Amino acid sequence: MVVRVFHTATALANTLAADVARALRSNPRLVLGLPAGRTPIPLYDELARLHRAGRADFRRARAFNLDEFVGVTAKHAGSYRAFMRRHFFDRINVPKARVDAPRGGARDVERECARYERAIARAGGIDLQILGLGLNGHVGFNEPASALIARTHRARLSLKTRRANAPLFGDRVSAVPREAISVGMATILEARRVVLIATGESKAAAVHQLVEGPVTTRLPASLLQLHPRAEIWIDRDAASRLRGARAAALRRLRRSRRGRSRGRRAAARARGSR
Ligand code: GLP
Repeated sequence: MVVRVFHTATALANTLAADVARALRSNPRLVLGLPAGRTPIPLYDELARLHRAGRADFRRARAFNLDEFVGVTAKHAGSYRAFMRRHFFDRINVPKARVDAPRGGARDVERECARYERAIARAGGIDLQILGLGLNGHVGFNEPASALIARTHRARLSLKTRRANAPLFGDRVSAVPREAISVGMATILEARRVVLIATGESKAAAVHQLVEGPVTTRLPASLLQLHPRAEIWIDRDAASRLRGARAAALRRLRRSRRGRSRGRRAAARARGSR
């Protein structure tokens, strides 16, 4: 697993956006798997900016949302579908017909899950799956459990996850649905490339376990260790609990930043004394 540590969440988002734009240029029919959540917002902002600047064309791309709340239709402002429209799809030129998402309002949830799996398969699978990370190590809505369901499925949400999602429902935990539809870990692991992003101190414990702990369904993100092309992109705060070789890399990153700012201060002093 490749771990990349960035000085800031902004640096991470900008680098990843440039990477996605490059991938789109080499394959305009790129199939993206995308998460909702706070973490990817700076990424979506930067991709929208690159699009406006004529550097990212999504006309022939496809996008599959990772998850959705059960019982919530696309019209509901708290739905992930609405979230993705607001933060991303309405700001780029991907045609509506090329964006798909689990339909939380479906009457027959199991049938909807099967439809979604088929749609992903028909698109040829996912080229680049971007993931966020739950505080308890969940990805999508694959919550920690003794066993996981491999494919798109109906998932029960933990209280911790419902609390984390309360801002989408007027800060009322009780208004957050108890169930969701989530793409399963097998489908995620079939994506040709997976990039998990995590920023901030609150994710440090989950990042530590995901990178340095065992592979376990008790921390679904750890299954990414099984993927041949999984990348973990984190900022310094999210990396702060890493030990071993990764901690050494983090210390080097800190030193290089200190070195750079010392250099800048010296240059400013030199300019001032001229
Ligand atoms: C949510 C979502 C995930 C998301 C994660 C992290 O519950 N189901 O898809 O990646 O939690 O969210 P955030 O980026 O807001 O921390």
